[in-house]
Amino acid sequence: MNRKIRILSPQSISKIAAGEVIENSLSVIKELVENSIDSKATEIVVTVKDAGKSFISVSDNGCGIEKDELHMAFIRHATSKLQDDSIYDIQYLGFRGEALASILAVSDITIITKTEEEDHAWELSLSSLSDEKNALLNDNTITTEIQEKISNLITPKNRAKGTTIEVKGLFAPTPNKLRFLKNNNAELHSILQFMHSIALAYQNCNFKLFSESKLLFDTTRDQFDDDILKQRIIDIFGNEFTNNIAKVSYTGFSREIKINGYVTIPTYTPSIRKQKSIIFVNGRLIHDYSIICFIKAAYSGLIANNLKPLAILFIEIPLQDVDVNIHPHKTEVKFSDITSIKNAVVNAVREALSSPYIAQSLTENQLYSGFDTSYNLSNEYEARDSYKHSNQDKHESTLLPLSARYPIEDFTAMNKAIEERITESQLDDKLYYFGNPICQISNLFIISYNSNTDDLFVIEQHAAHERVMLEKMKDALLHKKKLKMQNLLLPISTEISGTEAMIILEQHDTLLKYGIKIKMMQDKIHIVGIPIILQILPSVSPHEKVIQILNHVIQNSALVKEISETAIIEIYNEVACHSSILKGKSLSKEEMCILLREMERYNFTAQCNHGRPTYIKITHDFLLKIFQR
Ligand SMILES: Nc1ncnc2c1ncn2[C@@H]1O[C@H](COP(=O)(O)OP(=O)(O)OP(=O)(O)O)[C@@H](O)[C@H]1O
Ligand SMILES: [Mg+2]
Repeated sequence: MNRKIRILSPQSISKIAAGEVIENSLSVIKELVENSIDSKATEIVVTVKDAGKSFISVSDNGCGIEKDELHMAFIRHATSKLQDDSIYDIQYLGFRGEALASILAVSDITIITKTEEEDHAWELSLSSLSDEKNALLNDNTITTEIQEKISNLITPKNRAKGTTIEVKGLFAPTPNKLRFLKNNNAELHSILQFMHSIALAYQNCNFKLFSESKLLFDTTRDQFDDDILKQRIIDIFGNEFTNNIAKVSYTGFSREIKINGYVTIPTYTPSIRKQKSIIFVNGRLIHDYSIICFIKAAYSGLIANNLKPLAILFIEIPLQDVDVNIHPHKTEVKFSDITSIKNAVVNAVREALSSPYIAQSLTENQLYSGFDTSYNLSNEYEARDSYKHSNQDKHESTLLPLSARYPIEDFTAMNKAIEERITESQLDDKLYYFGNPICQISNLFIISYNSNTDDLFVIEQHAAHERVMLEKMKDALLHKKKLKMQNLLLPISTEISGTEAMIILEQHDTLLKYGIKIKMMQDKIHIVGIPIILQILPSVSPHEKVIQILNHVIQNSALVKEISETAIIEIYNEVACHSSILKGKSLSKEEMCILLREMERYNFTAQCNHGRPTYIKITHDFLLKIFQR
């Protein structure tokens, strides 16, 4: 190594800086499209050749750039978007003033632009060899001589208001970078995904993408009605995806955080497996792993573990609460209060998923090939079957009988009685969504029919009842605030290390809420109370279960609140599973009716505790289609 320290040449400095911003053709397109959005364009057309490697053009109908300022756009750290250097109140997608300079450092650029006020457009071409380009790249203080030279390069052109920027020979000055580009298909795929994402966020702007003169994406084709976002989702992801999403519309408690968008319903596995969730924060497309984790957390207890939910979320938070100046890509952000973001995301998604009516409607595909079978069902059925043999007599039916009996088929009177019994009725607007039961099939499924909507339902009685039981238990906990506890005459003692004991003791109050009472005596943890609810479990002893929970808490001490709650929900799931209507139990119409009304009453009843659907809906339209009417 040469030990002499020297300052790098301006050329090297600008190439190093450009490398942080421009990684591939997608980064060029992202920067140019974001500039167009900042210019308030309502039409943006992107054209690429060789997936952008040989040619990229981004054209808009935005505000344009004045002739006198044209050269300024290419000087590093020159921007029109920060008027008073306040970098903590960023209103635009751009703010660093380095995107065009970075693109210029690694390619040839031609810009044609026209403002409202000018009579015609101006064109400026900056090719790799020109002195003017080098001067722009290498020196922030442009001399009047250079300015004049650049001025002479600007020629009049014909163009409507707006800006077109053409980029040729990407990475010709830094050929090493070319080796890191993916093949054309992969590059084009990521460009298309970006165009899709940006089109979802900027609904008042139309986007087109051409590749080798072929139109790949065009939002102007959409037949917009009120819900432009939904229309774009149909256009991009298709009808099947759009039929299986739930709307997110959330305003935080203090009204400072708003979250809108859509999430996939828990029983749906998107066939577009490579698709990732799309998250915008204040209009900026971001890649943030923690938000993806918060979304997944909101599905806890609703989805099989191996399934991946998808979300399209637009998060709005006060500008001062988010730092966007983290990385030159501008796709990373930092939140000043990550806990409130977490709560907002979890609550927003949970709220969207809580409706009992977000089940899948049967599609032709499902009719012929069945539902996706990626849920792990084997364990569940094994557990159920073993329980069936050992405990059938003990828990015959957990559906409470009505005080009066009704003549078969008198559903009006029956529904009324059920409704009266459900005191805190939330039925109002959802009244009898599932209609009335018609019959039971194989003692497994209930068929019901809603004569108002002409919808037919097939309900899996065990799954549906299991979910209703779980929601009832959660409801009870919510209202009583504590789970009933049984004091143990002989405490269970377990030996654990000093640090482990500290972790457990720190959680004393949380554990008590869930019916677990612990005491510390002579370096040992003594369990002196356990939740009564555990006694219903057939296979595992309650003691073992409590020790399992404590181990959970110890192993996940950093996340202790969530983990202990997850452990408790898991137990609830088991209890619900083992105390609900078994497979093969014959139900009276009255019992079926109660189950339907309870499914309508409680949240999250569209899927069982293992993430399978509790029912399917067969619409009138679907029947017409199947019978080709
Ligand atoms: N399509 C466009 N329409 C109108 N003005 C534009 C357009 N593209 C660029 N500009 C002008 O050129 C300037 C420089 O653009 P550039 O992308 O380099 O920086 P920036 O957008 O300000 O910040 P960043 O580097 O974060 O993107 C912008 O501030 C803007 O004034
Ligand atoms: Mg920019």
